[in-house]
Amino acid sequence: MVKVVVLGAAGGIGQPLSLLLKTNPVVTGLSLYDIVNAPGVAVDLSHINTPAKVEGFLPPNEGLKQALTGAEIVVIPAGVPRKPGMTRDDLFKINAGIVRDLATGIATTAPKAFVLVISNPVNSTVPIVVEVFKKHGVFDPKRIFGVTTLDVVRASTFAAEALQEPSLASKLVVPVIGGHSGVTILPIFSQAQPPLPASFLENKETLEAITHRVRYGGDEVVKAKDGAGSATLSMAYAGATFVEKVVRAVSGEKNIVAPTFVYLESDAAGGAVIKQELGTDVPYFSVNVELGPSGVEKILPIGKVTAYEKSLFAGALSELETNIKTGVSFIDGAK
Ligand code: NAI
Repeated sequence: MVKVVVLGAAGGIGQPLSLLLKTNPVVTGLSLYDIVNAPGVAVDLSHINTPAKVEGFLPPNEGLKQALTGAEIVVIPAGVPRKPGMTRDDLFKINAGIVRDLATGIATTAPKAFVLVISNPVNSTVPIVVEVFKKHGVFDPKRIFGVTTLDVVRASTFAAEALQEPSLASKLVVPVIGGHSGVTILPIFSQAQPPLPASFLENKETLEAITHRVRYGGDEVVKAKDGAGSATLSMAYAGATFVEKVVRAVSGEKNIVAPTFVYLESDAAGGAVIKQELGTDVPYFSVNVELGPSGVEKILPIGKVTAYEKSLFAGALSELETNIKTGVSFIDGAK
């Protein structure tokens, strides 16, 4: 029995994400909240003949509280998306406040829920959620996740495309570490499973082009949508994939590995290894983690990377540290 709550459920991501969750039989309760149209989306989805009971809530009359009561997993795709020419950091001004208020609602109504943050800029919004939870004395670092799955989905798709092997896309897993914007995104093609051919890995031009494409893949969508938003359908797919992994882990399934932006202290031993590998004390990083019934069970080491991949770390870390500080001080500075 798993109740999933989607905050921002009537949006471009929220609607298809809610649809995918409704069609997944492991989800037994689906609670939708938005400042507009959530009850309408809920009634529409409720006609689908799958087990999940769907309810929709709006802000008046404690709608957020009602939506969150009994939540086990809360997914947050609320907030504004990018328009052409914008970076994810440009969204901070608006989305930081939205995420802070929703995090406050979760901390007070469902403090034990797993929180999956989609709203951008993820590198800053995850620290906001963490700081809000700390303020309320309910912070459990194992339960707060930044959703970076789309970067991994894109890396598989783009590598298969570059190799002209479309059927490889769904089998290929490329670790993507770091953060979730521009230069902080670090695809590690040398660790792909199944391994990529040497002709791919040793061709600097190909590698640079595809690394750039994974880092800025979101811009392709923003440009093509021409003012109508950013990735929504591929993000809904990626988000639903991540939720399913969390549900399976919560239900006791073993060896569930997922890439996510986490607080490195959530597994003191694993986090220390990452910091050692990076040679810095960065508090958050996207890495593969093993999930269990209480959330992050184990942070997995980065492992061996190539000289080219390593050369991208310094730029990523300095940007990431700035993004994290921006998020932390949004709550800290507001004391
Ligand atoms: P959208 O504008 O289509 O939908 C956002 C929804 O949030 C709207 O329905 C809006 O009414 C709702 N909302 C606004 N304030 C709210 C509040 N205080 N409480 C509840 N709901 C509220 O935007 P879209 O395209 O769905 O994107 C949402 C967010 O996801 C953006 O920040 C975007 O940058 C981010 N995103 C993240 C990705 C990732 O990989 N993590 C990928 C793509 C987008």
